[in-house]
Amino acid sequence: MKRVVSTPAADGRQFADPAFSATVVAWQKQHGRHALPWQNTRDAYRIWLSEIMLQQTQVTAVIPYYQRFLQRFPDVATLAAAPAEDVMAHWSGLGYYTRARNLHRCAQIVMEAHGGSFPADPALLAQLPGIGRSTAAAIAAFAYGARAAILDGNVKRVFARVFGIDAYPGEKRVEDTLWLRAEALLPEEGIESYTQGLMDLGATLCTRSRPSCERCPLAPRCIAFGTARTAELPVRKPKKAVPEKHAAMLVVEHEGHILLQQRPDSGIWGGLLSLPEVGGFTPLEGAAGAVPPLPEDALRQATAPFGEPASSERLPAVVHVFTHFKLHIIPYRVHLARRLPMAAQGGHVWLPTAALAQAPLPAPIKKLLLGM
Ligand code: ADE
Repeated sequence: MKRVVSTPAADGRQFADPAFSATVVAWQKQHGRHALPWQNTRDAYRIWLSEIMLQQTQVTAVIPYYQRFLQRFPDVATLAAAPAEDVMAHWSGLGYYTRARNLHRCAQIVMEAHGGSFPADPALLAQLPGIGRSTAAAIAAFAYGARAAILDGNVKRVFARVFGIDAYPGEKRVEDTLWLRAEALLPEEGIESYTQGLMDLGATLCTRSRPSCERCPLAPRCIAFGTARTAELPVRKPKKAVPEKHAAMLVVEHEGHILLQQRPDSGIWGGLLSLPEVGGFTPLEGAAGAVPPLPEDALRQATAPFGEPASSERLPAVVHVFTHFKLHIIPYRVHLARRLPMAAQGGHVWLPTAALAQAPLPAPIKKLLLGM
């Protein structure tokens, strides 16, 4: 018998949803922003400049810079011909100065390679310095009415919530699917209102924290809203796994005293008293907790300067989490039959067990010693 296997369309057709763009367009026309300084123009130069400035900067911060910049550089020819210092001076304070250097280079390329006009094709725009795929689409849509999809951080947030996307949008596989979705959702008409509408929703209602769902036209169909998960979506960047290390430490005992060692001033537990270590902090390989036992030799060598061991045993590991790694402390308890007089160097001290509670010890070491 012939099997029928259904595979999802790889071109994103399964994401088509005309009601989505219709809702965004209608909302933008009635409730969106219509008087921003870069709106109500088809001048690609002005639109390009605004989109670059808005890449990493909020609208309210951009407006005065945008206006001063246009007074000094009213068109792409003026900008291309200007000295770099002059361009930088007009960017000064906006931050992310690579944007300004790319802006200047881009203006020169538009003059030299495109006859002074920004191309209308988003794929060509995206080849220019400082113009990524989303910025290219925004310029093409606003300046030329091109049916091109934007996908900036705000739009990713809107999509993640409305469609209940349960994966980190920065991950390549997730982002690729978001692009397919963004393309599939484009309206047949009204690309300008739709593009501006997505931006307006993301910036004014579907904010990162405390979104205004009660005013959002997409709330009735928003999965995050419907399942009370606006705080969880979009999924945040997964935390990197912290490296794990292990260190063998000696708990050397003699007649009610414990051997301690002062740690170097810099580094972990700087200046505190701690247990003497054997071999330093070593990366943990394989399963956590599966630390091989310290060779007999190493243990004997490490304790020899302090006396003659009568017995030794390995104690259960103590795990301590630092900001950048997790340390498995493997304590070896060694009873000395005889204690040797100690050399002055090395920062070793014998402390009566009764004094441990008050001693300047790192918390996990103190816990270990008091719990023995
Ligand atoms: N952010 C990026 N592009 C924008 C635009 N055209 N209007 C408002 N905010 C934006």
